[in-house]
Amino acid sequence: MKKIEWVDGLSVGIDLIDDQHKQWIEHYNHAVEAIQAKHEVAQIARSLDFLSDYTETHFATEEQVMTESHYPELEEHKAKHDALRKTLAAMTGEFIEDGATDLLAESVETFLGNWLIKHIKEVDMRFAAFTRAG
Ligand SMILES: [Fe+2]
Ligand SMILES: [Fe+2]
Repeated sequence: MKKIEWVDGLSVGIDLIDDQHKQWIEHYNHAVEAIQAKHEVAQIARSLDFLSDYTETHFATEEQVMTESHYPELEEHKAKHDALRKTLAAMTGEFIEDGATDLLAESVETFLGNWLIKHIKEVDMRFAAFTRAG
C-alpha cells in the first residue's frame, strides 16, 4: 500500500477544493498507516470512519459549488460520488466482518487511493475549470 503525496499537478485551481483534497489525502494516509501496521481493529475502524465522514463533507461541498455555478455535468459528477459512497460503505462493512485483510488493503489502495487521484485529475478538474471560468 502506498501513501499519497500531494503534488501541484493535483491542484484544481480553487483553494477551498485543493485544501479539502489535501485533508482527504491526510485521512487516507492515516487509514493506510493503520491498516499496514495492522493496528487494533478499533483504530482502523476509526480511521475508516474519519475518511468516510470527510468524504461526505468534501462531496457535499463540491456538489454545492457545482449547483451554485450551474454546472451542466452535475448529475454525472454526482453519480461518480455516489458510486464511491457505496464502495466506501461496502469496504467499511467488509472490514468490520473480516478485519484488516490483504484484500482490504488492496481495495483501499485501488478503490480509494487510485480512484481519488483519477477523479481529481479527470472529473474535479473539469468542474473547477468551468467554475473558474464562470
Ligand atoms: Fe474532489
Ligand atoms: Fe468530485
